[in-house]
Amino acid sequence: MEQKIPKSVKIMEVGPRDGLQNEKTIVDTATKIAFIEHLHAAGLRRIEVTAFVSPKWIPPLADQMEVARGITRHKEVSYAALVPNMRGYERAMEASIDEVAFVVAASETHNKKNINASTQEALARYKEIGEQARKDKIPFRGYISCAFGCPYEGAISVDAVNELAVFFKDLGAYEMSIGDTIGVGNPLQTLGLLAQLEQKVPLSMIALHMHDTRGLALANIFAALTMGVASFDSSVGGLGGCPYAPGASGNVATEDLVNMLQSMGVETGVNVDLLTQVSLKMEKVLNRTLPAKLLAVCKS
Ligand code: HMG
Ligand code: MG
Repeated sequence: MEQKIPKSVKIMEVGPRDGLQNEKTIVDTATKIAFIEHLHAAGLRRIEVTAFVSPKWIPPLADQMEVARGITRHKEVSYAALVPNMRGYERAMEASIDEVAFVVAASETHNKKNINASTQEALARYKEIGEQARKDKIPFRGYISCAFGCPYEGAISVDAVNELAVFFKDLGAYEMSIGDTIGVGNPLQTLGLLAQLEQKVPLSMIALHMHDTRGLALANIFAALTMGVASFDSSVGGLGGCPYAPGASGNVATEDLVNMLQSMGVETGVNVDLLTQVSLKMEKVLNRTLPAKLLAVCKS
């Protein structure tokens, strides 16, 4: 087991996108730009800065263009954005985004609620955008959400997840991010899902995107690490949630993930003390306590 645990892990920081999309407080553009800059200073090298979605559907990210254009670009950082359709992709390109992500759930009902499309309609859209992105030489990821369970449909078949993973791989995605959108997965389920996925796509192309709704995100991530998975999404402070997935609370906190990895000797390149300072700042901005465990430790 131990030799499969990777020596280093890549993190996609999703705090400015997943983290803010469901917040009651609308964070102003300048604060978001400063937030992203602090994440860079803490050592994060892939940052999902916003989503080019409809502002009517996701009001907290309505300033997507201003944020993307306002951030100071560092050449070592890939600035990512979620795009749900061609309009979003084109706007992301206008804003010089480095990489994009497409989202589709392994649940028909969730797709209707979240992106107003059936699964097949969503895949037809992504096929067109993926082909355009390949021409433009823009790397892209595929989010496969509700992979561990759906708030509307309940249990989700592994076959549904596999089919979407194969779709994205064939389209040319560099990575598939498997989402536990409502935090219902457990470590054995994680091992089982990954064992079946591995039959279809290499685990080197798999990332996990775990929401910590029931406190099992790190346990699930550890299970994935034992199989050699080396890419994880997380959100500083444990911010996050999906407005179209009732019960979806925050992502695994980046500082808790980094703390677990570094204490096991797995490199991340991230400075955990600087990260907790970012979370402390965001607590003030949002006027609420964030769920990261390490944050509570550093306050005590
Ligand atoms: P729709 O209403 O079907 O879109 O929404 P439409 O094409 O009919 O257009 C309706 C209006 O939206 C028009 O404006 C369009 O111009 C505008 P109007 O004429 O009424 O003024 N519009 C746009 N505006 C800006 N950017 C765009 C865009 N597209 C249309 N790209 C749509 C379809 C996909 C747009 C909508 O459903 C949407 O924006 N959904 C996004 C929902 C979302 O962001 N959810 C959260 C992210 S997913 C998530 O959190 C899960 C994840 O973290 C993984 C996990 O946790 O597992 C990724
Ligand atoms: Mg999410």
